[in-house]
Amino acid sequence: TLRAVVTGVGHYLPDRVVPNSEFEKTLDTNDEWIRARSGIERRHFAAEGETTASMASAASRAALAMAGVEPQDVDAIIVATSTADLTFPSAATMVQAELGMTRGFAFDVQAVCAGFVFALSNANALILSGQAKRVLVIGAETFSRIMDWTDRSTCVLFGDGAGAVLLEVQDGTGTSADRGILSTDLNSDGRHKDLLYVDGGVSTGTTGYLRMQGNQVFRHAVEKLASTATTALERAGVTAADVDWVVPHQANIRIIQGTAKKLGVSMDRVVVTVQDHGNTSAASIPLALSVGHARGQIKQGDLVVTEAIGGGLAWGAVVLRW
Ligand code: ACO
Repeated sequence: TLRAVVTGVGHYLPDRVVPNSEFEKTLDTNDEWIRARSGIERRHFAAEGETTASMASAASRAALAMAGVEPQDVDAIIVATSTADLTFPSAATMVQAELGMTRGFAFDVQAVCAGFVFALSNANALILSGQAKRVLVIGAETFSRIMDWTDRSTCVLFGDGAGAVLLEVQDGTGTSADRGILSTDLNSDGRHKDLLYVDGGVSTGTTGYLRMQGNQVFRHAVEKLASTATTALERAGVTAADVDWVVPHQANIRIIQGTAKKLGVSMDRVVVTVQDHGNTSAASIPLALSVGHARGQIKQGDLVVTEAIGGGLAWGAVVLRW
């Protein structure tokens, strides 16, 4: 049985750290409200000239270095993003050029905050079908560029950054003891498009900002996240009791806690970075994987479940053994 195994992980965060208190100068908000409602304490914002592709490249270099793999030996690059540098070409081809990789193929996946889970699932399929042996899977975002800085209900919640994993094919036994991706589950429901969107885009000849009915998204989040994680765990032939680490999309600490509770996993088995990064959309899970690994939380052999929900709505989960 072929398995797609994580052999490298890395991340990049812009230098500029913005604490909640900075928003008190321009908005009717305060540090206590933001902490209590979201769990966010600070976030990173990209500098001028810093882009999704440049951050994605930096995260990729770290993941490749950990794996000891040269860019020329990578078969495919998938970037999950809703904030690519340009309408086209893809951010993934920009990363390809930046890394000096002249073979293989590269493309973007757009499923907003669920993007990394969708990208991971696609990368797994490419590896299991024999089309690729090594795939770089990246989540990278500059959401600071689509914020309405006059809207206190959204602009305090998001941040910029990038995370990357290298997946490499290995032979497994076909049991849940194998390292690598054990199962995936993807979902979307376009009826909910008005809950979370950017009110502008290319084919409408407009540019826009992020709009969100936060409490409506919240209402869907815990139930759908627990449901997709449970489906993926069942497909992998494991239970929540077997899980070493839940690595959730980092949007809101109350969603993270609610989902863990519903799954029956205690918070000491959940990787939490939302306090330091805010919501970095598709970048949040690979950032949390990289930080969780660097903290010594996620170790080889650990059973990890990642889950995410975002605009679309789109949501999903991936179960893997690290
Ligand atoms: N400071 C102070 N008050 C605020 C702020 C702020 N920054 N923002 C909103 N408020 C006010 C509101 O105006 C409202 O006031 P009102 O009662 O007088 O109308 C009050 O706070 C409560 O607002 P709610 O929206 O009901 O607050 P809630 O407890 O739901 O928390 C939050 C808001 C944090 C946005 C929450 O709903 C949430 O996190 N939702 C999910 C976000 C999310 O996960 N998004 C999806 C993923 S992202 C992606 O895919 C791109």
